[in-house]
Amino acid sequence: MTRPTFLLLVCVLVSASLVVAQGGDLTKNFYRTTSCPQAEDIIKTRISQLVSSNPALPAQLLRLHFHDCFVRGCDASVLLNSTANNTAERDSIPDLTLKGFEAIDDLKATVEAQCPEVVSCADILALAARDAVSIPFKKPLWEVLTGRRDGRVSIRGEVIGNIPAPFFNFTQLRTNFHNKGLTVHELVVLSGAHTIGVAHCSSFSSRLFNFTGKGDQDPSLDPTYAAFLKSKCKGLSDTTTIVPMDPNSFTSFDSHYYSNLVRNKGLFQSDAALLTDKQAAKSVNELIDQNDFFTKFAHAMKRLGNIEVLTGTTGEIRNKCWVVNSS
Ligand code: HEM
Ligand SMILES: *[C@@H]1O[C@H](CO)[C@@H](O)[C@H](O)[C@H]1NC(C)=O
Ligand SMILES: *[C@@H]1O[C@H](CO)[C@@H](O)[C@H](O)[C@H]1NC(C)=O
Ligand SMILES: *[C@@H]1O[C@H](CO)[C@@H](O)[C@H](O)[C@H]1NC(C)=O
Ligand SMILES: *[C@@H]1O[C@H](CO)[C@@H](O)[C@H](O)[C@H]1NC(C)=O
Repeated sequence: MTRPTFLLLVCVLVSASLVVAQGGDLTKNFYRTTSCPQAEDIIKTRISQLVSSNPALPAQLLRLHFHDCFVRGCDASVLLNSTANNTAERDSIPDLTLKGFEAIDDLKATVEAQCPEVVSCADILALAARDAVSIPFKKPLWEVLTGRRDGRVSIRGEVIGNIPAPFFNFTQLRTNFHNKGLTVHELVVLSGAHTIGVAHCSSFSSRLFNFTGKGDQDPSLDPTYAAFLKSKCKGLSDTTTIVPMDPNSFTSFDSHYYSNLVRNKGLFQSDAALLTDKQAAKSVNELIDQNDFFTKFAHAMKRLGNIEVLTGTTGEIRNKCWVVNSS
């Protein structure tokens, strides 16, 4: 071996070990080559069965994945149950309305039956959210890299500071996303997820009944839409009624979120807040174009799914998604 070749080899080895020291990165088809070639197919097949009996599931899983990634990274910490010693994320106020846990448990059991102890709950959640939302399109709407590992920690008190609230103004939203390495543009793009799913009246009823504390209505909310919402929500104390977030198309994943938003029909203050910043408002207008939205959403979801992931030998592969391994 010549001296330059040797030096080159040293450089390559050193940089490779640096990558490993950082825990490495997520990769395409992490399970395909060795540990569980059929993992992604099992999830895709099973999730379409689950969605056919529960059309609300795609929205629930998309939100669950988001809440996972924003607290301790995409490590399935959101899936852990509270224990005698610890109150977990899912028992915090913002997470009480999360759903879809049972679907993840089902998928995990289905995968475990064929490949025990190799596929993480965090990857199952990321893949399931993508596959569920993609069903009507017959092709994956975004790429999900894999190789995430599961965390062993889930703390209720960490949710409020990391999950944005529906009453946040633009400055608060920008800071919140910036803390996760996401840009203003990505904030606007990912908010487009509100094109599917439902919300409880309590998430927006102050806009209808007591906006500034004088029993008033949010003037930035379209009056006709406000009247419609008031016909559904019984008042500030209504904590049970749910309404579609994107009226008329709450089960279809499309860019209607943005066309509604520019007509002042965004449901939350956090949605309306996107119009209060010049740069964000410009993005809102561009994303009405559905092709543009799909392209940008695919890119932003990949970035969301990458937040503070555990890889390599960090964390663990949980046996059951709701409890850490006992050893
Ligand atoms: C920008 C800041 C965000 C805020 C303040 C916010 C807030 C909320 C709130 C309050 C709800 C309704 C919960 C309820 O009342 O039941 C909701 C629902 C939802 N959110 Fe967000 N969200 C944000 C961003 C995101 C992102 C980034 C995603 C995913 C990429 C997402 C996906 C969803 C989905 C799909 C639902 C419907 C869930 C269902 O139907 O069960 N949200 N969000
Ligand atoms: C709960 O806390 C006690 C005391 O700190 C500890 O001995 C025990 O191992 C903990 N149990 C679990 C399940 O973590
Ligand atoms: C743990 O969470 C699962 C859902 O993931 C739920 O079905 C189960 O009842 C929970 N167990 C306990 C002990 O709370
Ligand atoms: C946004 O909310 C924060 C916290 O309540 C407040 O300090 C700030 O002044 C608000 N910003 C704007 C532009 O309203
Ligand atoms: C409206 O908000 C004000 C100020 O926060 C509060 O004092 C009042 O009790 C609220 N009204 C209702 C009906 O909750």
